[in-house]
Amino acid sequence: MSAAVQSVVILGTGSYTPKRVLTNAAMAEMVDTSDEWIRTRTGIRERRFASAKETTSHMACTAAAKALEASKLDKSKIDLIIVATMTPDMPFPSTACLVQSQMDLPKIMAFDLQAACSGFVYALSVASNMLESGKFNNALVIGAEKTSGILDFEDRTTCVLFGDGAGAAVLGRSCKNSVGIIRSLSGSDGSNPKFLHQPAGGSAIPASPKSLSDRQHFLKMNGQEIFKQAVRVMTQSSQDILELGGYKSSDIDLVIPHQANMRIIESVAKRLGTPMEKFYNNLEYYGNTSAASVGIALDEALRKGKIQSGDLILLVAFGAGLTWASTLIKWQ
Ligand code: ACO
Repeated sequence: MSAAVQSVVILGTGSYTPKRVLTNAAMAEMVDTSDEWIRTRTGIRERRFASAKETTSHMACTAAAKALEASKLDKSKIDLIIVATMTPDMPFPSTACLVQSQMDLPKIMAFDLQAACSGFVYALSVASNMLESGKFNNALVIGAEKTSGILDFEDRTTCVLFGDGAGAAVLGRSCKNSVGIIRSLSGSDGSNPKFLHQPAGGSAIPASPKSLSDRQHFLKMNGQEIFKQAVRVMTQSSQDILELGGYKSSDIDLVIPHQANMRIIESVAKRLGTPMEKFYNNLEYYGNTSAASVGIALDEALRKGKIQSGDLILLVAFGAGLTWASTLIKWQ
């Protein structure tokens, strides 16, 4: 990075969620569940499900177009696209390549990043490091997910939790060194992959009539294990990044956590000693949109005026893998 360019900033954000709303009552018509069970165990009231035509790339492009508009940057200036997703349009080519073409972006580096629900925060970290290197100038970072395509609507323990959508951010470099992405921290522990996974469709269990009849192409989850791990790693990752940045939890103005379960968020808030009023939450309306969740919440928080210049923002997420990631931002 040249001496004049000292930080990476978010120039603009955008998000998209499908129009089709499925309330808990509507879910209760599909599986043996109730609004009361879902609300009290998760905080979710409704979620959005994409139509057949709304692919992951379609939602990604819609969110990205809004982020580009907000950034006031001409699209010809974008030189990197990262799409975080675990539900790409197809195994290959990457959804990022489809976004490049559908948005008529320059023929630049474009790739997908798979860190499940940590994807958007992981991708922010990768992009900001690439911009800091001085070899890239402006990145389009998108978290997009069509989870409804991998949900088993015969499994009430998982299908009520997730939703579809996309969140995007345009990153650029600033000459001011006191603002922007201060620090990113990511981690992984692959020792228990079956806690949250989609067993079939890869090289371990290629698609076959048996994999289909065994329902192996759907998301499977050990909810209680994931709950415990999520609270632990989100708390630890938040504490670690604050310490590395030289901050205390009381310095944070707004936390944007991965929107999986309100009880997970409340447990993290308690352990951090940060009041719930400092957490931006919208999972009530969207459920867990996986890699899209932090991007959608960040965009909403900005557009609602919840983020002001000079604010210290903490993004923190966890996901299948297990993966976790946090980012500290001093808003410009
Ligand atoms: N409706 C009604 N009853 C249900 C439902 C449902 N949708 N789902 C489960 N139950 C029942 C169970 O069968 C069980 O009944 P039983 O006692 O008769 O056996 C009872 O409710 C309690 O089940 P638990 O699994 O103990 O419920 P718990 O309080 O642990 O809540 C939940 C389950 C909400 C899944 C919770 O464990 C959780 O949120 N885990 C974390 C999930 C998560 O965050 N996943 C996202 C990961 S991010 C990514 O990368 C995609």
